[in-house]
Amino acid sequence: MDEGLARRLGAQNARFREEGVYKRLNHLEGPQGVRVRMEGRGEVLVLSSNNYLGLASHPEVVAGAKAALDRYGAGTASVRFICGTLAIHRELEGALARFVGAAASLTYVSCWNANEGLPASILDEEDVVISDALNHASIIDSVRLCRAQRRVYSHSDMVALREALRETRTFRTRLVVTDGVFSMDGDTARLPDILDLAREHDAVVWVDDSHATGVLGPGGRGTAEHHGMLGQVDLVTSTLGKALGGAAGGFTAGPEEVVDYLVQRSRPQLFSNALPPAVAGGALAALRWIEAHPEAVARLHGNTRYFRERLLEIGFRPMEGDTPIVPILLGETSKAILCSEKLLDRGVFVTGFGYPVVPQGTARVRCQISAAHTREDLDFACDAFRRVGVELGLL
Ligand SMILES: Cc1ncc(COP(=O)(O)O)c(C=O)c1O
Repeated sequence: MDEGLARRLGAQNARFREEGVYKRLNHLEGPQGVRVRMEGRGEVLVLSSNNYLGLASHPEVVAGAKAALDRYGAGTASVRFICGTLAIHRELEGALARFVGAAASLTYVSCWNANEGLPASILDEEDVVISDALNHASIIDSVRLCRAQRRVYSHSDMVALREALRETRTFRTRLVVTDGVFSMDGDTARLPDILDLAREHDAVVWVDDSHATGVLGPGGRGTAEHHGMLGQVDLVTSTLGKALGGAAGGFTAGPEEVVDYLVQRSRPQLFSNALPPAVAGGALAALRWIEAHPEAVARLHGNTRYFRERLLEIGFRPMEGDTPIVPILLGETSKAILCSEKLLDRGVFVTGFGYPVVPQGTARVRCQISAAHTREDLDFACDAFRRVGVELGLL
């Protein structure tokens, strides 16, 4: 390889280190859970994972994955349309569609892939995507890959969305896209307003519910259920890599015709292997578990309220919201990274996020609560936050 390239990137990595924004990977020596063994650190409390319902190492999920591995082997060594579709894919896709209130669904190896495969397949130059400014990177990139025009409206600004819909009335299809729960701020999309505006302007609504599936709504069915509007969103994408077992995988759910068209045309389907059977089996077991245990979703929200109240008592001002994503803004990236290092020294694993994951000057530590946390776990975390807050002059 050209030495110039490696030298240039190596120098850039060195600058990241000097500026205190270098991301050091922490290696876990066992399964994901409320407490994990971290190489060089021993046992630490996790407050930084999307394991919202504690299913990542749940015995029923592990058993589901093992059973599928035994029955179907490692995988299909093929893409879906050649000879890579298994009965468990159909079973999982039926269950996912029912769960989110859609007619059909199609799985991918990640929600990143599901997003990437959606607008580029169904839209072209005659169409437009209208996207919230804080949408996830996978949505932003999916729109970049697509030949449709694009408009970005400021975050959750319904006046701006209405304006964008007015300006684009001559386009054939207008696709409004929003995260259900915004991953960095933890706030929830204004879905009733978005759906009203979209209906008024004959637009199609796509919601990425990755942080809402298994989390929002009494049954964990997502943003639409949270607002009493299950089945009213036109297109839903979501991940299996967070509340639904936490392994990997994603899906697109919507009308039969759209899902069938994606089977025909979506490039990550046509040119990449299917979800491995063990992953499909684990996700199916997770879905069945959630359907049988809606009380876990209520516990998750009870834990979140408790944690927020404790943080406020200590003197922190987390960003407002009612989802299990509880960010504390710190400003500079190096400050967020230092805060997360200090918390880790006290046995609490919370990642600091800075630019380019969030805009410059809005670095934060992002806490994520799980139904599997006990009140003792949350008290332990808050005590560490109090001590680190004092040490860094944040309180
Ligand atoms: C809103 C959103 N969409 C998509 C993704 C990507 O999900 P996956 O890990 O399944 O690719 C994420 C993951 O962080 C996300 O937060």
